[in-house]
Amino acid sequence: MRLKDKVAIVTGGAGGIGEQTAKTFGSEGAKVVIADFDEKNGQKAAKHLQESGVESLFVQVNVADHESVEAMVNKVIDTYGTIDILINNAGITRDAMLKKLTKEDWQQVIDVNLSGVFHCTQAVLPHMIEQGSGSIINTSSIVGVHGNVGQTNYAATKSGVIGMSKSWAKELGPKGIRVNAVAPGFVNTAMVDTIPDKIVNGIIDKVPLKRLGDPIDIANAYLFLASEEASYINGTILEVNGGLVI
Ligand code: CAA
Ligand code: NAI
Repeated sequence: MRLKDKVAIVTGGAGGIGEQTAKTFGSEGAKVVIADFDEKNGQKAAKHLQESGVESLFVQVNVADHESVEAMVNKVIDTYGTIDILINNAGITRDAMLKKLTKEDWQQVIDVNLSGVFHCTQAVLPHMIEQGSGSIINTSSIVGVHGNVGQTNYAATKSGVIGMSKSWAKELGPKGIRVNAVAPGFVNTAMVDTIPDKIVNGIIDKVPLKRLGDPIDIANAYLFLASEEASYINGTILEVNGGLVI
């Protein structure tokens, strides 16, 4: 059990990569908090975990809202007394070509993908500092490293996540808190369902492994970075993309 008795918050844990992460962490002995906007699927995911013997809690949160995040973290502390791992995984896309991108879609993506990571990290920080340990993993993207057509807003946030991760690795390392990021390639979830088929097929063709990523591919990367096996890894950006960009 690589995460025995660790308390892990997984934002965006109601679906896609986050839901798989909650399962993977639970199977490694963690107590898993599913922190998501989506109440129906979040409750369902937590119930499935509980039925399989994993201690799990769903807390509804809007990561874009500072107060909502504070309330979520307080609830976790009230329930488990500690927070060992934060996976800043919640994210959204509002894709459009630059000339058509609306201010609303620009702002919404910034609020969730960038400010959300800031809110959650700041809220767990006092607890991790107090215990002198913690592991924070932020979700970037291949798009944050290399850019993508139609994703100005998303790319800005996912590059921003890399900058924040590296800054926090330097700032929080001396307090015993490791900060890393995972930059997934294209992974088979609802998010990729929004891409026109023609473009997805073109992407798969360019991946040397000739497939999309599966949520477990990313959950395993989070698991490694969260575990003791990565105790000397701090400030890294782990690209998990099947070799799409080398
Ligand atoms: N690469 C090259 N060309 C592209 C392209 C791409 N990725 N995406 C669009 N284009 C081209 C189109 O082929 C089209 O070319 P023509 O005018 O020559 O036909 C032109 O750009 C305009 O595209 P659309 O006709 O599709 O324009 P639209 O305004 O209807 O839609 C769009 C624009 C919403 C951006 C749509 O093209 C789209 O959804 N593209 C995919 C964007 C994408 O890859 N999103 C990733 C989502 S998954 C994710 O974000 C997770 C992650 O981290 C990887
Ligand atoms: P998804 O759309 O399947 O799941 C995202 C989850 O986040 C949903 O459960 C949703 O309810 C939740 N969420 C959205 N906004 C929220 C908010 N304001 N507050 C709380 N929860 C919120 O997406 P997927 O694919 O699982 O993505 C997870 C992360 O991985 C995202 O950060 C995404 O940007 C990133 N990523 C995804 C890739 C992919 O190809 N699927 C590739 C690279 C990165």
